[in-house]
Amino acid sequence: MDSEKIEIFDTTLRDGEQVPGCKLDTKQKLIIAEQLDSLGVDIIEAGFPISSPGDFLSVQEISKIVKNAKVCGLTRANKKDIEVAAEALRFAKRPRIHTGIGTSDSHIRFKFNSTREQVLERAIEAVKYAKNFVDDVEFYAEDAGRTDNDFLAKVCEEVIKAGATVLNIPDTTGYCLPEEYGRKIKYLRENVKDIDKAILSCHCHNDLGMATANSISGIINGARQIECTINGLGERAGNTALEEVVMIIKQHPNLNFHTNINSKMLNEMSYLVSELMGVPVQPNKAIVGANAFAHSSGIHQDGVIKNRETYEIIDPREVGINESSIVLTARSGRSALAYRFKNIGFDVTKVELDFLYQEFLKIADTKKEVNNDDLSFMMKSFNQKI
Ligand code: KIV
Ligand code: ZN
Repeated sequence: MDSEKIEIFDTTLRDGEQVPGCKLDTKQKLIIAEQLDSLGVDIIEAGFPISSPGDFLSVQEISKIVKNAKVCGLTRANKKDIEVAAEALRFAKRPRIHTGIGTSDSHIRFKFNSTREQVLERAIEAVKYAKNFVDDVEFYAEDAGRTDNDFLAKVCEEVIKAGATVLNIPDTTGYCLPEEYGRKIKYLRENVKDIDKAILSCHCHNDLGMATANSISGIINGARQIECTINGLGERAGNTALEEVVMIIKQHPNLNFHTNINSKMLNEMSYLVSELMGVPVQPNKAIVGANAFAHSSGIHQDGVIKNRETYEIIDPREVGINESSIVLTARSGRSALAYRFKNIGFDVTKVELDFLYQEFLKIADTKKEVNNDDLSFMMKSFNQKI
């Protein structure tokens, strides 16, 4: 069976940029948008045009330069938001309006002081209104993760009738368990009339560290779009990390999915976003963290030096990293030390290594990491002794 395409919807410039301290100016957003387009994302959510004149301008300028991806603008379910988004997207080759409203009882009661019936009406009206400006209208049911499934199915059915092309099912609060989120998607696939007229989309937050697992569970159960950000940036604990879902799909061919992402650009992309947003990537971050391909304990290093596959499930070149690193610490063994000496031009014999290793441990116990300068110094002292 041919593998099925998963659309990658990047929201680094919208949900990602909502994070305090991540604010970008238009020039910086254009740099990121251009790179996302080259990376191969299918949809770039460029911003929330009504939120500020600066964001409007950014969405407008991004619309002008993006060549391949669809460009999307977020709105609430009201006419003014939709008109402003449509205007900002005017120059986009493939514009998408992303409109929606909270559908959980807590949103309906506390945010809108409204009723399910009134919210359903607003959802339908918003989609119909957006259709006056663009063909491609994505509807989000905010807090779908905590929305009653029957009501959610009703909303989905009605917005499809109104013309929605994509149904975003956000786990806005990052509360769902993967199995639960997957079941929700399956329920919608099985209970919404004409569900094949729209694509179901996963938009998962990471409050309990399950955003990636939930998105994967979503596609296994019938969703065909994942909303995600570079480095997993986003409100609070962030969104699903683009690099993670892309590599899960790639490394698990049995899932029978593919994406359009050029994975060899992932490391560079992560670095660019981290630099421009001023948010460092945690060292142990999957795929793009500084330690994602670094081996530091003796047992692991010995294995990797003999054959990379013993401890690596991804060839680092697949994500744009030339090679994995063997880091020297007090937990490293002889084979790692010999390997690192060789890398700086010293081929040591077994007897020499036995001696040097004892010297190495003395240094390693005083430092977090033994570097090439330390190794050269050790070699110089050793040569002076013999
Ligand atoms: O998390 C969320 O529900 C959102 C919507 C606005 C799509 O970001
Ligand atoms: Zn979100």
